[in-house]
Amino acid sequence: MSHPALDDGPIYLDYNATTPVDPRVLDAALPYLTTHFGNPSSAHHYAAAPRTAVAAARRRVADLLRTRSDQIIFTGGGSETDDLAIRGSVLANRDRGDGVITQVTEHPAVLATCRSLETDGFQVTYLPVDGHGRVDPADLSHAISDRTALVSIMAGNAETGTLQPIAELAAIAHSHGAMFHTDAAQAVGKIHIHVDELGVDLLTVVGHKMYAPKGVGALYLRSGTSLQPTIRGGGQERGLRAGTENVALVVALGAAATIAAEEIQGSVTRLAGLRDRLHHRLAERLPGRVELNGHPTKRLPGTLNISIAGTRGRELLASIPGIAAATGSACHEGVHQPSAVLTAMGLTADRANAALRLTLGRWTTEAEVDQAADLIAARAT
Ligand SMILES: Cc1ncc(COP(=O)(O)O)c(C=O)c1O
Repeated sequence: MSHPALDDGPIYLDYNATTPVDPRVLDAALPYLTTHFGNPSSAHHYAAAPRTAVAAARRRVADLLRTRSDQIIFTGGGSETDDLAIRGSVLANRDRGDGVITQVTEHPAVLATCRSLETDGFQVTYLPVDGHGRVDPADLSHAISDRTALVSIMAGNAETGTLQPIAELAAIAHSHGAMFHTDAAQAVGKIHIHVDELGVDLLTVVGHKMYAPKGVGALYLRSGTSLQPTIRGGGQERGLRAGTENVALVVALGAAATIAAEEIQGSVTRLAGLRDRLHHRLAERLPGRVELNGHPTKRLPGTLNISIAGTRGRELLASIPGIAAATGSACHEGVHQPSAVLTAMGLTADRANAALRLTLGRWTTEAEVDQAADLIAARAT
């Protein structure tokens, strides 16, 4: 199976930035942009199909997370979901305390929300990570207090793929009466996520990381967890997220969730195999120069972050137009800064500047992986 958008272009190794929309997802969503245009809240014929479709999509997302559909709230994407989860839960639970705990390699959607809470009088603690990017649960135990209202720690890191020990961290939060949120934008659909086994109260789902379009997401909200809306208006989504439902995108997310659930078992094995093949081929071609960034095993199956000694990732990628990938470094006003995630893991500036983030997905093939490794190795020598 190939994807029409990828057929004639460079080898796409940037699935963590965004995924192409799966043609099956598009097919499911299109009728809700054409025939079934009605507002699900209307009380006439044209509302029926959209209303039924939104309900079905809610069940599909719930099934992927192995939970009930009344615990799913549709949103407009990852940043909005993180904001709703974090701000909405601490504002609704001010009586629990003014403490929030997160960690240094979170996505800016979480970090910026936490920083803005500081200006609202909340006390935010940013836990460190180890050299693999993992939070030590002992650090959470040390930092948490009875004033902590919320702990927010991501499931899988977008740059390194490192997975956090979510179940253990959530148990610590709960033992102190705090709520637990995880930004699972990069994990949902890629690894098995069972919200009850993880023990989380809030979890972020993002459409465009799982082959649905951009601008749609979902929040898992454990029943009994109170939440203050961040967008107010009509009573949609149980009054927790106002706005006429974006029916086509919600249907797309539902379809993407079902496909992910059906294919996850095979895709975990396939992608981890391709990821390791890419890594080993590069290591063979560039002996002693390839360093893995992130956890060697506790890692998303499709994510490979490496530094090739003696190179600069940005320049290396720019010299290989046949590959579309990322480095993690940020460019502010023309000045390139090493990735904040890799820096927080204690990597030297040289190693962080050499980083390549190569992320694989549904349409990555063995031939592409081999070709990408050869192109990179040829340029790096
Ligand atoms: C871990 C994580 N959280 C949140 C987001 C933000 O999602 P969105 O771009 O849909 O707002 C992303 C997207 O890059 C992400 O990787």
